[in-house]
Amino acid sequence: MEKKRIAVLVSGGGTNLQALIDATHAGVLQSGELTLVVSSSSKAYALTRAAEAGIPSAVLTGKSFEPELEALLKDYQIDLIILAGFMRILSPAFTARHDRRILNIHPSLIPAFCGKGYYGLRVHEAALARGVKVTGATVHFVNEIPDGGEILLQKAVEVLPDDTPETLQRRVMEQAEWKLLPLAAELVSRGEIK
Ligand code: GRF
Repeated sequence: MEKKRIAVLVSGGGTNLQALIDATHAGVLQSGELTLVVSSSSKAYALTRAAEAGIPSAVLTGKSFEPELEALLKDYQIDLIILAGFMRILSPAFTARHDRRILNIHPSLIPAFCGKGYYGLRVHEAALARGVKVTGATVHFVNEIPDGGEILLQKAVEVLPDDTPETLQRRVMEQAEWKLLPLAAELVSRGEIK
């Protein structure tokens, strides 16, 4: 079977992109190929990770970036889009055109601590403020509602008494995000999740 062609959309450090790259080398991600990285910032370290892995990349910083993004997706014949720390909201028209073709990783157990305003450290700050004992990460399809699309995979992570937002973020990444995202990419590429 031909490999699905994957575009990864990033804005920052790109540790989730790195997890996808590592999963390719480890044979965990084998039904999909990391074909293109698109960043909303020219300073994103994710771009260095892409270059080191030999994956072509593009930077789209404009306010109305979607027409350019569509052109790139067409040029590179992309089958699947993965949002890995992408800090821009996609329009309802865009998400509708790519229905069940966009994945996102969110660092909580949706429906807790998700939706508008819940990104980055804020998610973990909110979890600690609420005093939950368990949090985690979720991979979901992207639709017009922020963090509202169908849930594909979730993994729980323990909250420890001395956690700061930073230590919790790190544990959620290590124990959940970096495992779930490559697995979801493989399952969707393989056609096991449609
Ligand atoms: C991750 O916590 C991810 O869940 C969220 O944004 C962060 C991106 O981190 N959507 P990185 O750029 O992959 O290191």
